Amino acid sequence: MDKFVIEGGKKLKGSVKIAGAKNGALALIPATLLAPGIYNISNTPDLKDVWTMTRLMGALGVFCELNNSELFIDAREITQLVAPYEHVKKMRASFYVLGPLVARYGEAKVSLPGGCAWGPRPVDLHIKGIEKLGAEITLDQGYVIAKSKGRLQGCKFHFDISSVGATGNVLMAATLAKGTSVLTNCAIEPEITALAKMLTKMGAKIDGIGTTELIIEGVDELQPVNEETIPDRIEAATYLIAAAMTMGEIQLENVNPYHLTSVISKLEETGCEIDINSNKIFLRADAPPKPVDLVTAVYPGIPTDIQAQWTAYMLTAEGTSKVTDNIYQDRFKHVPELIRLGAKIDIVDNAAIITGGEKLSGATVMSSDLRGSASLILAALVSKGTTEVLRIYHLDRGYDNIEQKLKKLGAVIERHQTELV
Ligand code: UD1
Repeated sequence: MDKFVIEGGKKLKGSVKIAGAKNGALALIPATLLAPGIYNISNTPDLKDVWTMTRLMGALGVFCELNNSELFIDAREITQLVAPYEHVKKMRASFYVLGPLVARYGEAKVSLPGGCAWGPRPVDLHIKGIEKLGAEITLDQGYVIAKSKGRLQGCKFHFDISSVGATGNVLMAATLAKGTSVLTNCAIEPEITALAKMLTKMGAKIDGIGTTELIIEGVDELQPVNEETIPDRIEAATYLIAAAMTMGEIQLENVNPYHLTSVISKLEETGCEIDINSNKIFLRADAPPKPVDLVTAVYPGIPTDIQAQWTAYMLTAEGTSKVTDNIYQDRFKHVPELIRLGAKIDIVDNAAIITGGEKLSGATVMSSDLRGSASLILAALVSKGTTEVLRIYHLDRGYDNIEQKLKKLGAVIERHQTELV
């Protein structure tokens, strides 16, 4: 199991190319189950979660090969309609295969995602939506079994909670249903909009893309396409925060600034100077940040996926700030680890109250989830001395080449093998 050893105290300076979005690619790949053929998905990030998805696709009979960000997918033949626990337990996004499989084949058996490091993360909305499209759903020994007599039927479905995963899943299923579906309170995260655009390119008829109401006219069949994954807005936000925290300057390349509007204005509130030039963002910080509260919300609000990184950032502010997570109420596993570095943070309900300005000093800390691990790396960058971040496989799930990118920016970070589990 690998760990990172980080020497704190360096300002990050330079430019970094942002990879394709993890959550973007994880939605596009299962969409290829909707139509037989050959696909090429460019700008695909090289991440463990992407490998997990391609292995799951392999278990279904789909050949995938990732080379230099180009993901080749041969989905001419699907040989299995079962998504086994061994793949789904590693990553919730595996559940995305349910909608496409049942829409195209009238049946699918997908393991329920296993437990999660933080909070309850149900899939009830995925199931309810697909049920509303006419599939009969049963649960058997940890598997969701969906069956439909003939094609799925268009329906009206309202998502009680705005959910990225459930919107993607039900949307994919509705593209091949008979008749019209009206989905309301849909997630409008850029990764969902990108998925809807790919489906449209494949021949799906979708109105309202980018809004919370999607109207889908089901079609008999779809065609394979080539598509490009959108840039990773969470990776981008993480590097912006890293540069701001270390009072450095950074230029992000291959980014969509529009997807980061809420994050950029928050960073500006802290005192950073930010310039935007088409697909580039430049940030400079000359002083410690002002304490700025943050509340996560559905897009275009602040993503829950940067809550942990912002918490680390506010440790460097002079004063008190409050970071509230309204999407996942108990996504604070990183806090006790930050405290090991000397942070002063209290958790009150679904908020972290951060007393900034305390001197942080290196220690051994443990990753427990993807974004929480990113916050530990950020804190290590401003801690005195050496920090060891254990169990970094969480980071490898979602950050493409993180140590090379940080090194290029001037950070002192090394990956080591460790026996500790
Ligand atoms: C997606 C992202 C994840 C991000 C999250 C933020 C992918 C692969 N993952 O996850 O990185 O942190 O969005 O929103 O894109 N909910 C239900 N029932 C459901 C589904 C969700 O109650 O069936 C609730 C969740 O508990 C949560 C909220 O809806 O409170 C948002 O979850 P959702 O957007 O579905 O998250 P994911 O799709 O799992």
